[in-house]
This record gives sequence, C-alpha cells and structure tokens, in this order.
Amino acid sequence: MKTITKATLVGLATTILAHTATAEEISVGLLLPYSGVYAALGNEIDAGFQLGLETFGGETDATFKVVREDTEVTPGVGLGKARKLILQDKVDVIAGVVSSGVLAAVRDVVDGAKVPLIVANAGNDEATGESCSPYIIRMSFSNMQVNRPMGRWMFDQGIKKVYTLAPDYAAGHQMIDAFAASYTASGGEVVGQAYTPFQKTEDFGPFLAEAKASGADAVYVFYAGGEAISFVKQYDSFGLKADLPLFGSGFLTSPLYVKAEGPAAEGVITALHYVPTLDNAPNAAFVTAFEAANGHLPSEFAVQGYDSARALIEAVKSGATDAETIAAALPKVTFDGPRGALSIDAATNNVVQPIYVYETVAGDNGLTQKVLATLPAEADPANGCVMK
Ligand code: PHB
Repeated sequence: MKTITKATLVGLATTILAHTATAEEISVGLLLPYSGVYAALGNEIDAGFQLGLETFGGETDATFKVVREDTEVTPGVGLGKARKLILQDKVDVIAGVVSSGVLAAVRDVVDGAKVPLIVANAGNDEATGESCSPYIIRMSFSNMQVNRPMGRWMFDQGIKKVYTLAPDYAAGHQMIDAFAASYTASGGEVVGQAYTPFQKTEDFGPFLAEAKASGADAVYVFYAGGEAISFVKQYDSFGLKADLPLFGSGFLTSPLYVKAEGPAAEGVITALHYVPTLDNAPNAAFVTAFEAANGHLPSEFAVQGYDSARALIEAVKSGATDAETIAAALPKVTFDGPRGALSIDAATNNVVQPIYVYETVAGDNGLTQKVLATLPAEADPANGCVMK
C-alpha cells in the first residue's frame, strides 16, 4: 500500500487531474442469486463487493459501473443472464456465481466471449480443472480445497468411521468426494452415503435415521444457505448430536445464518477458508467496516465479494482497461487480505489460501467461531487443466 505524505500531494493532485480526462469506466456484471435457497449468500457477496469497491476504488481513477442479474440458483436462468450481461450490457467483467451448477452452465459463454468471470463463490472443481479457462479466475475456493484437508484432520482426531450427506448436485458430490478420498487414504472408512434432492428436501428425518443405524462414529456433510439451517436444526432435534458428532465443510454453520440455527449449531466442527474471528490486521479493518455498513459480522461470502472487488481494482491499477487486459492481469494479483496471504495458482486460476478448522461455540454476543487448527495453503492438482 502507498503511503501518501504531504510532500507528494501536489504531484498527486496533478496526476489525478491529468487522469480524469481519460478516466476509464469499467462495467461489471454481478451475476448472483438474489432469490432461491442461496439468496442470502448472493446478497452477502454483493454487500462485500460494494464494500471492496468503496474501500479500494480510490486507489485508481477508474470508475466502476455495476449491473446486477439474478441467477435464481438455476443453471438455465444463469446462462441467459450471463448472455444478457455480455451481449446487451457489454460488461468488461462478470463477478459472482454461487452455485456449481450455474458455473458449469456459464463456462462456455464467458470463455467463448472472452469476458473474464471472477468467481466469487461456486467451488466447481472442473472450472479450475478440466474445464478451466483463462477467462475464469476464482477468488473464493474450490470444492476440493475446503474438504480435502478435513479428511486427514478428522482421521487424526481418532474418528475411524463416517457417514456422509449432501445435496444431490455438482457441489454436493465434489465436496463429499474430496473429503472421502483423503479420509479413506488416511485410513478412515466411509460406512454409508446419501444425497438429498437439492432445493427440495424439507424433511431430513429418513436420511438421519440411516446415518444413525450405519455404525458411524461421526457424520460429515455439505449443506449451505436455507438447507444448512434446516439440516442443523433437524440433526439436533433428532437427538443425534451427542452420540454422533456433526462435522462438515464450514458453510454448514456459516456466520451468515448460524444465528438462525441457534444452539443446534453449538459444538459442530467444520472447515473454511475464512471466519470473522481470524486475528490479523486486514481482517480487523474489514470486520469493522463491514459491520458498520451492514449491521452484522461478515461471513466467508462477504469476504469473497470484497476480495473479488479488490482483485479487479488491483488488475485495473496494473494497467488493465478492458475484458482482455483484465483477464490477463487477474491471475497475477496477490495480496494479504482478511483471510491471510492470497494468490492465484497460474496452472488453474484457482485461489491458493489456508484452511481453518473451527468449532461453533457460545460467545459473549451469541454463537462464534473458535479456530481449532490452521491447515496450510495447498494448490489443487491441475485435474486436467490446460490453460488456452
Ligand atoms: C456451490 O454450489 O459451489 C456452493 C454453493 C454454496 C456454498 C458453497 C458452494 O456455500
């Protein structure tokens, strides 16, 4: 970060004036679910993105025009909206996409149009694997990245047998596959698995009965948004928590909706790339600013939006002005942000970052996240990615 002293202010004023005449306007399409089971996630990413623009936008004389479109968490709708942003609004860059299913649907259209997509959530492994593209740069996480380390960690805690559950769509399968591969490679046994109909399951009872009867030591799941709230509450009211501890990827107990889960979430152990309780200076500044603007602590979704805006601004600061130059600059962006040191793996365009295992515990102001372990950053295998 530049330190501005009085002595440089005069020169700076001249530079700003000289630049204003030719100030670039960067047009950004925000492609997010503003309705459906992931609506809260979309709104939170949007809030983080806006804060990122406000916080870092002054570091460049470019202006950012934002056009919003709702994917409704539906691949076909997301595809139509991506086309509209590219063809009608002629955006320079798209940011967003929450569902792995929507990311798979829009992949070819952004790649073909050569309009960069900053992925601000969807963890679809293929988008930074065999379907990778120079126009897809992920600032959030990959599904394997947040689940693989938990396989080893749980086995090391003495948990020998697990039962897994997740919604039946791309992210559910990829998250569980990554966990199961590292858990079994470490010596653990997956004694049973089920996938629940995505966006349609209201009663998890029959699945919980199977988990209980499976002989597992613990249950490992992926659920997010509205489904996470119902799942965590039903797991607790079924009386399973004491005998069959609940683990998962950390979206399960996201600070975004853990309040709605209430005491049912206490004691659940999960892993993520960000929790608001991380002790570092960029996070302290982010938490204060986000809470002041939005009235609640930021979640992983907020930081993904914030860092996506910051990455775009860094690309523009390095001289990028349009789709082609933004796409080329984004993979080179690195910074120390609220989640720690962050860079993009040039082999896949996926973000590289540490993973935090955390327990949801009762704190002075309600439920909070107690970090149990910091698992070192590791880049995903290339998974067939050939960048061209
Ligand atoms: C995904 O579909 O990739 C996805 C959705 C919600 C999450 C995480 C991943 O919280």
